[in-house]
Amino acid sequence: MSELADLMSLFKKEFILCKVSKGETIGLVTERESKPDYVAAAEAAAKELGASVFEVRIAVSVSDDVPTIARGLGSTGRALGTDSIEAESLKRADMVVDLTSEGIVHAPIREEILAGGARMLTVIEPPEILERMFPREEIRTEVENAARLLESATEMKVESESGTDITFRVANSPVGAQYGYVDQPGRWDHWPSGFVHCYPVDKSAQGKIVLDRGDILLPFKRYVEEPVVLHFEEGFLRKIEGGFDALLIREYMESWKDPEAFATSHTGWGLDPQAQWSALALYDKFQVAAMDARSFRGNFMFSTGPNRFVGRYTQCHLDFPMRACSVFLDGIPVVEEGKIVQEVALSE
Ligand code: FE2
Repeated sequence: MSELADLMSLFKKEFILCKVSKGETIGLVTERESKPDYVAAAEAAAKELGASVFEVRIAVSVSDDVPTIARGLGSTGRALGTDSIEAESLKRADMVVDLTSEGIVHAPIREEILAGGARMLTVIEPPEILERMFPREEIRTEVENAARLLESATEMKVESESGTDITFRVANSPVGAQYGYVDQPGRWDHWPSGFVHCYPVDKSAQGKIVLDRGDILLPFKRYVEEPVVLHFEEGFLRKIEGGFDALLIREYMESWKDPEAFATSHTGWGLDPQAQWSALALYDKFQVAAMDARSFRGNFMFSTGPNRFVGRYTQCHLDFPMRACSVFLDGIPVVEEGKIVQEVALSE
């Protein structure tokens, strides 16, 4: 079998989980950097399942409001807009498959597509990662259990040996369960995924996070080599201390000239034993979307920047997947020193 045929059957397996069916219309969003074999595989897989397929190819250019050489998160979404012909077409699809290089995540168009009932799936990772972390029922169960725990909690506290000591209010916080496929109207996910997150009450984060050697900086896609202390007051990152890694974070965040970049975004933990902390060391940066880093079992991941639930769409977004943290919900540990507390993970 050819590589494309293998890829097509992988997409078909995924689309079956996503309940792609006869008579549905699937919209592919692409751009110049999209992988041609992914576009071909998605199209062929959807057609085999009886769906019709169209492609919207977005022309993105680096605009004046993006100060870095890397394209900002949300550039593609912004280029697409919310009321262009292309955007309107996507809103009318039953499912949108996002094959853009960075993914349309923190952008208003995503919310509009989902609000209309379409489901939406982001696919960026290379085939071996799509395959290794392919969605499994047991991961979905654990992610959904974790989401229920988060939904009923009022406070999240995180500690670590290296000095992390921070609390977030999470009462009634929007919770996201990412298990790698979309089988319900209005659901978004990123294939592959295995983690839970919430958007804590805005301005509630208080304390410090200490990034230790081996923790991960995204979108830099690099491991921390010198500890970094991040001080949060009333939900905002107020001080960044440390050596080179601290300098890098500070310079990057300041380059956006946007005070909202320093707000807290989502926070949660990883659950997938198939995801590998070490994976990031094995690839070139532009080959991967770092879903291993976001999903590896027992990570604590927090982030800075956007929060659509309070209307904050800043493009400066950093994710920090960390090792060896303990996470408590209302005083009960769900992760202990980087290990999932099994009885909590499996409780109904
Ligand atoms: Fe994020």
